[in-house]
Amino acid sequence: MNSPLERLRDWKAPAAVILGSGLSSIVPESAGTELIPYADLPQIPQPSVPGHVGRFVLTEMNGVRIIFAQGRVHLYEGFSGKEVTAGVRVLAEAGVRNLVLTNAAGSANPQFAPGTWMMISDHLNLTGTTPLLGAPQFIDMTTAYSARLRDCFAKAADRVGMKLHHGVYAGLLGPQYETPAEVRMLQTLGAQAVGMSTVLEAIQARALGLEVAGFSCLTNFAAGISPTALSHQEVLETGQAAAAEFGRLLGAALPRI
Ligand code: HPA
Repeated sequence: MNSPLERLRDWKAPAAVILGSGLSSIVPESAGTELIPYADLPQIPQPSVPGHVGRFVLTEMNGVRIIFAQGRVHLYEGFSGKEVTAGVRVLAEAGVRNLVLTNAAGSANPQFAPGTWMMISDHLNLTGTTPLLGAPQFIDMTTAYSARLRDCFAKAADRVGMKLHHGVYAGLLGPQYETPAEVRMLQTLGAQAVGMSTVLEAIQARALGLEVAGFSCLTNFAAGISPTALSHQEVLETGQAAAAEFGRLLGAALPRI
C-alpha cells in the first residue's frame, strides 16, 4: 500500500484547491474519487471548526485531475503560521504546481454583494505572522497572485457568464469579526474583502515556487456596512449557496491551466 504522500503524488494533479468555510460542496460527486484524511498525514493538524472536514479528495473535473483540500486550520485555533500551511507543503511535495485558495470573506465594498465571488488580485497580511518565521526567505511578493492564472480565470468567468469581482483581500487573525472602525480602516488600506485565512498559504506557496490564485466567496457585508449582526451560520449558508457557481468557474478554467 502506497503512503498517503505517494498516493497524492501518483495522482499527478496539475492543480489543487483549498476549500474554505461552507465551500466543501464544490467537490464533484464523481466515481473514482479517492479520499485521504488529514489524520493520515502526521504533519497536517486537524481542523476543529464546523464546516471544515479535513481531508484531501483526489478527483477529476472536466477530465482534468485535481486535488481538493476540504477544510483548513486557522491561526485563531491556536496553530502557528508554520502549522496552518502544512497542507501547502504537502501539496507542493506531491508535485502540485498551481494552487487555488478559496475562502469565505466579508465584503468591505458596498458594490460587492453577499453571495458573489471576488478574485484576489493582491493581499494585506495583517495576521502579524508568516510561515517563513524562523527560516527567513526574502521572497518576492510583487505578483503573489499569478497574472497568468488570473487571466485564465477571468476568461473562464466570461465563458460561463459569471460575474467575478477583483480586489484586495485583507487576512486578519480573528476569530472575532471586525468592528465597524476596523472595517473603515481596512477600506482606507485598500481592502475589498476581509477574512481569517489564505494569506499565509499564499506566502508559503510562493516560497515553494507554486503559482497561486485566490477567490473570496463574499458571504456577508463586513461589520458596519451590514445593518445586521454577523454570524458564522450565515457565512456557512451563503457559502453553500454560492459554491456551485464557483464549481462551474473551476470546471471551465481547469482544462486551460
Ligand atoms: N470578517 C472576517 N472573516 C469573515 C467574514 C467577515 O466579515 N465573513 C466570513 N469570514
